[in-house]
Amino acid sequence: MTIDSTIPVLTIDGPTASGKGSVADGVAEALGFHVLDSGALYRLTALDAERLGIDLNDEVELAACALALDPTFTASRIFMDARDVTDEIRAERIGNLASAIAPFPALRGALLDRQRAFRRAPGLVADGRDMGTIVFPDAPLKVFLVADVDARAERRYRQLIERGTPADLDLIRQDLHARDSRDANRKVAPLAAAADAVTIDSSTLGLEEVIARVLDLAKAKGIVR
Ligand code: DC
Repeated sequence: MTIDSTIPVLTIDGPTASGKGSVADGVAEALGFHVLDSGALYRLTALDAERLGIDLNDEVELAACALALDPTFTASRIFMDARDVTDEIRAERIGNLASAIAPFPALRGALLDRQRAFRRAPGLVADGRDMGTIVFPDAPLKVFLVADVDARAERRYRQLIERGTPADLDLIRQDLHARDSRDANRKVAPLAAAADAVTIDSSTLGLEEVIARVLDLAKAKGIVR
């Protein structure tokens, strides 16, 4: 697959519930860029592996499952074989399954080309854990978005309550801790800031403020005018 490396990519990596998805959407909208929600690909793999009854420890089968995925991403929804799975893949259970299968190198490798294919003109905003370190190491702007665990737990709690899903703040906090440590301590492509990433702490910043900071950085880097 040939990739046009002159097409700009902005990477936004960070822990669960740091707000990277909303920031990526806002930045992409302001710039008219495409978006890659890489976590959705891990979640789709988890969902499909479960549906197919694949052993979640079987790296080879999981990689084959990831390669065979044929999702359709529209502006706000994700479909698999014409089935709208947007809400299903957002469930905490699927997020945890995605995190549990994400350490397998063969699975990560199977998703690489698919992720890089999102790099299309006029540009891409990619969010995940390893966008700046592994998937787009040549990205001209890399952001590492962090927020303390209490701020992230509160955000996740509010999202769930707004969706009408019962939620327990303490359980969410414990879950975030567990997922952070699994994502950051795995051997392959762990959650980590790239050496040339700019860290933004969003614990006390609103979404619009974070988006504005990223857009300022993009201007300062000459990615956009
Ligand atoms: O960003 P998210 O919560 O939708 O991601 C779900 C899981 O997928 C996350 O806990 C770890 C994995 N993931 C990954 O390993 N690498 C990525 N680039 C994105 C997600």
